Amino acid sequence: MEKEILNLDEASALFQVSTKTLLKMLREEAIPARKIGREWRFSRTALLHWMANGNSMDYTSAEEENKAYFAQVAPVYDEMRKGCYGNALRDLIIQRYPPMPGSNVADIGTGTGYLARGLAPRVGHVVAIDSSTAMLEVAGMDLAQGGVDNVHLVEGDAHELPLDDNSQDMIYANLLLHHLTDPLTAIREMNRVLKPGGRVVLSDVKQHRHRWVKEEKFDLWMGFEAQEIQEWLDEAGFDAVEVNDVGCHCRTSNKAGMTVEIPMFLASAQKQ
Ligand SMILES: C[S@@+](CC[C@H](N)C(=O)[O-])C[C@H]1O[C@@H](n2cnc3c(N)ncnc32)[C@H](O)[C@@H]1O
Repeated sequence: MEKEILNLDEASALFQVSTKTLLKMLREEAIPARKIGREWRFSRTALLHWMANGNSMDYTSAEEENKAYFAQVAPVYDEMRKGCYGNALRDLIIQRYPPMPGSNVADIGTGTGYLARGLAPRVGHVVAIDSSTAMLEVAGMDLAQGGVDNVHLVEGDAHELPLDDNSQDMIYANLLLHHLTDPLTAIREMNRVLKPGGRVVLSDVKQHRHRWVKEEKFDLWMGFEAQEIQEWLDEAGFDAVEVNDVGCHCRTSNKAGMTVEIPMFLASAQKQ
């Protein structure tokens, strides 16, 4: 299968130009591309579409739209979440993959601190990372109100985690992957920051056909196949990969009032 997300070298090869020429084109033309940290990322589909029509900006805008969406919903996100999946999901995830008392854990794409709040009483320290300032502000207020003082909120990108190598005992991420340009890069980052023997725990929606969810909620992926998650965890260097049904659904409604319940998976794997 051809790779969908390309780096600068791979995109240059697709364009049949040198990387220097592609960098020059990026400065001068509206090529669909994203800068993640210091690295350029391209979507093969968007590039091919752009080459054919010269007008596809879909890939460039998606990430900004995603950020704008979370900035807008942050104040009401906790209420929205209660309607979507409630606290049962968090309890289930933590019960199935409990952290060790006193350990250091990370919650990536923490949002308003849903998992971080559940993990805090069970561990030594939680670092809760999100790319949305607005979501982190709400998380900060909730944690302070709850008297939780062992969660450290950090603004950062899952594709380039602001964490040291081998620093975390466990990493959790709930409903993050479907918002990412390049989930494999993020899973590799999770592997890098885990201590040897540490576990990653990922929960998200299974592959679905409801295109409006992608359009109205600014998702980048319409869920995932278990095999896709298994392959990414393998490719990122994890062992003992497990991908199972979580037994919970994510309930969501569209502007026309239609509600769907999308089944979720729970995956975990161990760093070698
Ligand atoms: C659907 S919310 C889930 C929030 C939380 N995990 C929960 O279960 O309530 C997705 C979160 O991922 C964050 N996010 C999206 N892209 C990200 C990225 N590249 N790096 C870090 N966080 C990101 C969003 O800002 C948002 O807070």
